[in-house]
Formats: sequence, structure tokens, C-alpha cells
Amino acid sequence: MINPLYIGPHKLKSNLLLAPMAGITDRPYRDICRSFGAGLTTAEMISSDVSLWGTQKSSSRLISKDETEPRCAQIVGIDPNSMAEAAKRCADQGIQIIDINLGCPAKKVCNKAAGSALLQYPDQVEAILTKVVSAVDIPVMVKIRTGWSNKNKNAVQIATIAEQSGVSALSIHGRTREEGFSGHAEYETIRLVKQQISIPVFANGDIKTIHDAEHILNYTKADGLLLGRITRGKPWIFSEINHYLTTKTVKKPLSSSKQIQTALSHIYTIHRHYNSALRVRMANKHIACYLNIMSTQHTISKDILTNIFTAKNSSQQLEKFSNALEALTDSPKTRDSVTKVVKL
Ligand SMILES: Cc1cc2nc3c(=O)[nH]c(=O)nc-3n(C[C@H](O)[C@H](O)[C@H](O)COP(=O)(O)O)c2cc1C
Repeated sequence: MINPLYIGPHKLKSNLLLAPMAGITDRPYRDICRSFGAGLTTAEMISSDVSLWGTQKSSSRLISKDETEPRCAQIVGIDPNSMAEAAKRCADQGIQIIDINLGCPAKKVCNKAAGSALLQYPDQVEAILTKVVSAVDIPVMVKIRTGWSNKNKNAVQIATIAEQSGVSALSIHGRTREEGFSGHAEYETIRLVKQQISIPVFANGDIKTIHDAEHILNYTKADGLLLGRITRGKPWIFSEINHYLTTKTVKKPLSSSKQIQTALSHIYTIHRHYNSALRVRMANKHIACYLNIMSTQHTISKDILTNIFTAKNSSQQLEKFSNALEALTDSPKTRDSVTKVVKL
């Protein structure tokens, strides 16, 4: 049995959080992950430069008040004053938790010494966190990596600064910035961070199975986990891991028909969320993931795949996807003929 967890005043429904993923964790995806038991979801990162919030891209990332609580937004930037201003604006708009991004390795972000690049500058981290925490009455979280590089693994130092600055929780991806997404995440640094601070710590990186989840929680003694890529095409993983962690028994797999229902309703919600120029493109990312997951259970022919990704509008896309899902669940799986869907 795992203990209920609080971030500030907010009691989480589970200790499994959806990792923030720009371009993926939009409102439809957050809702679906919540419905399967994610204890907290974070909106896609937004710049601390509030003058950019009016762009179509940024405004589609803002959270509306009808979203499930607690509502969490992630801010990326370098300047303490603008980070604090952005946090205040978020709070005014009904955001209940702020997450500061010190983990993103993207060049676009790091060239401005934001995201994980800030790990090189502990004083700047302290200035940002102190300003943001004092600017808002809502809890502030921080997401970090283990350090900038293997030679400079300073996660313990950064985590200590975060706690001393009044941050309420910390999540940590077990890789350095230099490693990007290569190799495998390591959990020793996460364990050391957890030993050093007393605010809730969420471990992150390469958690792929219920057994990984159990092992990483036991090893690091983290309070919870952040799940990223494994949730793609398989948002029901939250209920499988939650069930295992609370009962120590393996949950019966979600039936094919429930998986199909989930996938179709997700795509339908994406179509309603985005304007007509974006709908098909945004949905294709998720269709590829669902098919990838289902290809481990069923045969998918190349023709089906080619056909789906030629859809020109949302109704064609939904129809093609629906036909494909129906066809593939009718066909028994023959390992050799399985086609792996586009690389994620
Ligand atoms: C497509 C993609 C987008 C991401 N965007 C963000 C982001 O905006 N902010 C952030 O803090 N981390 C971001 N991440 C990192 C994830 O939150 C997570 O730390 C990383 O994927 C490792 O966890 P995983 O192995 O469970 O996927 C992103 C990862 C991916 C794959």
C-alpha cells in the first residue's frame, strides 16, 4: 500500500503522474490519462514570455478552469522576474500548481540557457525558484535531470536549493542533459536526491512495466513516479501500475474492445480540440502509437497503415482508423507478419 501524497494542499488520487511532453500532453491526452488514474497531469510547457501567450500555439496550451483539479502548468524560461510574472498569470487563470522546467534538453530551449541548461547555474536556479515561490500562493514544483553532464551531476545540489527555496515537490529524470534520451536512465542519483530532501520526489525515466515501477519505487524510495513515453498508445498503463502497486496482483488486461473504444474516443476528442488545420496531424501522432501497441497483439498489414495515413480530413481519418482497428482485431496475430508502425 502506498501513502496518499500531497502537493501543497492538493491530495493526489494516485502517486503516478503523467510526465509533461510538449506536443503530446494536450487537453485530450491529459483527460484520458486522468480517466485511467494519473494522479496529476501537466500541460505542455509554456514560455515565461507572456507576450507569446497570444499565439495560436501557446493559447492552445493554456488550461481552462473546467479541467480536473489540480491543474498544473509548466513554465520554461531564464529570467526570474518574467518567470514570476508568468507564474502569477497562471495562478490568476486558475492554475493550481506551477511546474518549473529545468529538465528539457531541447536545443530550442537550451540555447537560451533555459530548461536543463539552467542546471549549470545553481545561483540562477535559486534566483528563479525563490522569485516564483514568493510570487504565488500556489505550490511550485520543479522538474530536473540528474545534471548537465556526467562530469557535472549536481542533482542533489539543485534539489537542495529547490527545497530551501520553498518548492513543494520535485520530479527527476534519471539522465543528464548530455545524455539526451540515449542509454538507460539511472536511479542511483534519484535515490541520493530522495535521501537529501524531504519534499515529495517523483522518479522518472524508462519506466516501462509494473515491475519497473515497483523496483524503482523500492530502490529510490521516491514518493511517486512520472510516466512519459510508455503511456503513449497505452494510457490504461496508469490503471495497471496503480492496481499492482496497491494490491500486488496483476490487473486483467484491458479488453481489445475497450482499447479500441479508448483509442477512437481519444481521436474524436482531438478532432474537437484542434482547428481544422491541425486536427489530422495531431491525431496521426496518437494513431501511430495506438497501432504500435496493438501490433504487439494483432497483425497489421502494410495496406492498412498506408491507407490510414492518407486521410485528408478528420472524418476520413476517424473512419479509416476505426476500420483498421476492427480489421486488425478480427485477424489472429502471426508474429512474423506483424509490421511495426512508424517509429515514434
Ligand atoms: C515528445 C516529448 C516531449 C517532452 N516534453 C517535455 C516538456 O515539455 N517538459 C519536460 O519537462 N519534459 C519533457 N519531456 C521529458 C519527459 O517529461 C520525461 O522526462 C522523459 O520522456 C523521460 O521519461 P519516460 O522515459 O517515462 O518517457 C518530453 C519527452 C518527450 C518524449
